[in-house]
Amino acid sequence: MEIENQDILAFVNTVKSLSEYDFTQYSDKSLKRRLSKILLDHDLSPATMLEKIRTDASFLEKTVKEITVSTTEMFRDPPIWHSLRYDILPSFQNLPQISIWHPGCSTGQEIFSMMILLNEMGLLQKSRIFGTDINEDVLDTARTGVYKYRFNEGYLANFDAVIRENPRDSNTYFDVPYSKYFHVDKTRDNIRMNKTLLDKPVYKKQDLVRDPNPFDEKYDLIVCRNVIIYFNYELQNKVFKLFLDNMNQGGCLVLGVHESILGPFASRFDKKSQVYVKK
Ligand SMILES: C[S@@+](CC[C@H](N)C(=O)[O-])C[C@H]1O[C@@H](n2cnc3c(N)ncnc32)[C@H](O)[C@@H]1O
Repeated sequence: MEIENQDILAFVNTVKSLSEYDFTQYSDKSLKRRLSKILLDHDLSPATMLEKIRTDASFLEKTVKEITVSTTEMFRDPPIWHSLRYDILPSFQNLPQISIWHPGCSTGQEIFSMMILLNEMGLLQKSRIFGTDINEDVLDTARTGVYKYRFNEGYLANFDAVIRENPRDSNTYFDVPYSKYFHVDKTRDNIRMNKTLLDKPVYKKQDLVRDPNPFDEKYDLIVCRNVIIYFNYELQNKVFKLFLDNMNQGGCLVLGVHESILGPFASRFDKKSQVYVKK
């Protein structure tokens, strides 16, 4: 079923009037793509979808979760993690404490990846890790740290690429067994993060559209990947301001591979490798 711009507008206005969610500044392209999929999956027309949203609160919640795509993986895009390992995290070595925020952390694989890398670099103990997302369900999964093996099996190669392999020929070589950080149970089809990693991060629901910095904290590193890609230019700039205002000088911002700072905030950062460093 083809979805028109007026259907998208009606969806955004209806959701806004009935809930705390505001998709006014999400990109039209991504809303169109997601809504078309929802119509197809539930065999609905734009009008019957709106009616269902108005009359069925659980359908509204479900739709919101489908709009805010939660796809993620361990050590997603290994080259970014190589930049962190070789270019960025070593410069934090002398800080007394490292504060790291992952807005839009989804089910937590990105946070576990960060903790594993920090631990191998001897930096985990002095790090404070914060994870937020608009979707409370994904945060619950992050808190438990249990994932389907068959969906995550392929990503073990990312672990190898970032932790075990040594692409830049530095002196360190980490010959690390997976069991140091998680337990793979193929019979039960799960990957279970070790308890020591579960206790470290602090999670909180936060909506980047409307909520302020969720913690009383200034960050040395903000990892916000594959989130602003769903936002329009104005909302992206609002989010960059939130990050900038809450970062320490010399603090770093990591975005997704298809995301960049193009507007007025570009001049406030230097780009080092694939990472934005606050001037
Ligand atoms: C595609 S996932 C990215 C997960 C992870 N950062 C990664 O790169 O693998 C996008 C996440 O952003 C969250 N999100 C979408 N809109 C948001 C908003 N307004 N505020 C906070 N989180 C949001 C979604 O719930 C989802 O978990």
